[in-house]
Amino acid sequence: MRTQNSNKYFEQAKKVMVAGVNSPVRSFNGVGGDPLVMKYGRRQKLFDYDNNAYTDYCLSWGALIFGHAHRNVVLAAKKAVEKGTSFGTTTREEIGIAEHIVKQVPSIERIRFVNSGTEATMSAIRLARGFTQRDILVKFDGCYHGHFDDLLTKAGSGVANLKESSSLGIPQSHMQNTISLPYNNTKILEQTLTKHKDKIACVIIEPVAGNMGVIPATTEFLKTLRELTKKYNIVLIFDEIMTGFRTHPGCVQSEVNIIPDMTCLGKIIGGGFPIGAYGGRKDIMQHLAPEGGVYQAGTFSGNPVVMKAGLAALRLLNKDFYKSLNKKCAEFTEAINSYFQKNNMGVHMAHYKSMMSIRFRKESVLNYDDALAAAGGERYGQLFWHLLKAGIYWPPADLESFFVSGMHTQKDLDDLLGHLKGFFKNGEN
Ligand SMILES: Cc1ncc(COP(=O)(O)O)c(C=O)c1O
Repeated sequence: MRTQNSNKYFEQAKKVMVAGVNSPVRSFNGVGGDPLVMKYGRRQKLFDYDNNAYTDYCLSWGALIFGHAHRNVVLAAKKAVEKGTSFGTTTREEIGIAEHIVKQVPSIERIRFVNSGTEATMSAIRLARGFTQRDILVKFDGCYHGHFDDLLTKAGSGVANLKESSSLGIPQSHMQNTISLPYNNTKILEQTLTKHKDKIACVIIEPVAGNMGVIPATTEFLKTLRELTKKYNIVLIFDEIMTGFRTHPGCVQSEVNIIPDMTCLGKIIGGGFPIGAYGGRKDIMQHLAPEGGVYQAGTFSGNPVVMKAGLAALRLLNKDFYKSLNKKCAEFTEAINSYFQKNNMGVHMAHYKSMMSIRFRKESVLNYDDALAAAGGERYGQLFWHLLKAGIYWPPADLESFFVSGMHTQKDLDDLLGHLKGFFKNGEN
């Protein structure tokens, strides 16, 4: 594999950017070696500076449900950019996408756009605290909600590589109002919410966790969570930044028919541009400035180019699209898992429709402790390089999910299947 140009540019990058990357999970620390420097993307393929092509299953960490440079999204962005890049005023582009999301996502009556998922969760939590006049925030071990101080404890994604899954630089005073509980443990959830019911402002959860590999919350767990938060007037926030519009036009909340008080979105709704959004019940959202006393603002929030591109992407998503994508993914996961089972291999593919992750054990994974126990470590690194050399780009970190887009063909998935079988057959498991 020729990587001379990537190597040269990465050396240059390291001299001016921390570790040569602008986000820790982009480094290859989890798999060894140096990251590739990418030049362009088309449909399901990424191309590096040595002209290697890769079938991309990372897809900008789940943002690109149509693969790279979809014609409609590119045209929409071009059209918008020609009219001006940022006005700092209300625009019709914002109204269009806001109407679309409010119509599709059951929990969202009012919405506010921001520039990243982190901003969305941070602001949603501030709003929940302002609304309830309470301080405590409950989250779940292994979920990742962005790099907001109060959330960086026992977090998944890149934070999982830090000691204790927590960041330095966060005063203890921030953390004393954060409680992190085991995912999918209904008993501990009941005990904790009951004990602190008058002090808890909100509970934030990924309804299908994607940052400790893929773990869908059980229906019993989500139902209990909804019932208890309602009973104790605690704001329930679904972080659907990764799952939003990935599997269903109404997001996971529509699929499971459990409607939170607030929802955070990001990734897919920007069509590949930087975005975040939070929305929810009108009576809660009305506490946001200028209507209410909870402050949150942004120079570039609701940027017209992003809004126009995002809406172009969302308009392409319909039931038929999901049906066909989800079917492809179901067949793929069934094929690989039956191969693992038939050959009595200690490995399985965890999945929720077009979100997937590999687990290096037979038993299913229900929470963060299970996910850590099922991590492949060095074997994941070997698998990553095995696939990369075969022209397949997976996330360069064990506990990340990988994604399939509407552009991936049956042949792409058959190739992936073949290379996975090849890796595990050769005794590297
Ligand atoms: C579920 C979830 N929430 C929040 C975030 C943070 O979003 P951003 O990276 O846009 O700040 C992510 C990012 O991966 C995520 O997966």
